This record gives sequence, structure tokens and C-alpha cells, in this order.
Amino acid sequence: MAETSNPLSRPLPDGIVPAEVVARTEKRWIILMATMLLVMLAIIVVTGIASAMHPPSNVEVIDPATLHLNGEFVESNLGAAVEPDGSVTVRFIAEQYNFVPHCVQVPVDTPVKFRLTSADVVHGFLLPDTNVNTMVVPGFVAEVRTRFDDLGEKAMPCHEFCGLGHHAMWAHVHVVPKERFANLTPLQRTSCESH
Ligand code: CUA
Repeated sequence: MAETSNPLSRPLPDGIVPAEVVARTEKRWIILMATMLLVMLAIIVVTGIASAMHPPSNVEVIDPATLHLNGEFVESNLGAAVEPDGSVTVRFIAEQYNFVPHCVQVPVDTPVKFRLTSADVVHGFLLPDTNVNTMVVPGFVAEVRTRFDDLGEKAMPCHEFCGLGHHAMWAHVHVVPKERFANLTPLQRTSCESH
């Protein structure tokens, strides 16, 4: 009679977990979650600093309806252009379902700046094993700077779903030796026919 008069001193019924055990389990989960968050944050910081991986931050607007009429993205101005300082600027238009031009050549071990814009919907531009990864949003110019250490072809499909032909929309960038690039005409740089 005496032990049942105080409900706290009664043994717990089957299937009820004692409060200390619940508290200990919750604490373990909190530590595990906090550790995972810290690891993921560290990955973002390390890749951001070490590999220059970050979302493009320039905000530059452009009228998608007049791209082909005048300004930087007229057809004759697309592709790889050599700047006076020896760096290379590549201009692409992304549209359903192609990049224009289809393929460009760029020199190895040289600063390369990509400038892209969209003529219709949101597309994506990503080159594997580089820091190049950006959305291409109509009305804005996406700019990414990089430098290629290895020769070869980089091909990657558009990585933002943009419609029925999305899977067939590929970006092609050929990284070629510097001497070879220097001997290409502007037209040759802006296609990969010579391969
Ligand atoms: Cu363009 Cu997906």
C-alpha cells in the first residue's frame, strides 16, 4: 500500500522509456546533427576558398528580346575572343535546346572568362572538374572566370530543366595547347570543326 501511494516511485509499465534514456538519446542525435552541419559547412567554406566554387555574384541585366539585334551578344560577337591582356572571353547564348556557338576552343593555362545569357528560359552551364557552374537566367548575364589546367574536351548537358529537349542540350569546350589556339582564326575558335 505504501509504495503505490506515491506515483513517482511506482515501476514504469512495460513499453514506457524512462525520461533519462530519452534525454540521453536526444542529446546523441543533437550532437550527430550538429556534427553533420559543421562538416557540410566546412565543405562549403573549403571548396569556396580552395577551388573558387561559389555562386556567381555579378548582377548584370540585359534585354533577352533584342540579343540578336545589337550589343554584346550579336552572332558575330559570340565564341572565344582574345583580350588585349592575353586572356580569353567566351560568349555563349543558351536557348532551347542549344548553346550558341555549339562548341568553342580555349587555350590551356590561360585566364578564361565565360559570359552567358539566355534567349528564352532558365538554362544551366557546368564544366566538370572546374569551378564553372552557373545558372543562365534570361534577362541577366552570367559571368564565370576560370583557368583550365588540362587539355581535352569538356562536355556537359545543360543542368537546369528547360523543356522537352533539355537532355540533348550540351555545352562543348575544347581546351587546346596555347600555340595551337594562337594559330586559330576567330571563326575556328568558335567551332570545333578542325578536330
Ligand atoms: Cu537548357 Cu536544360
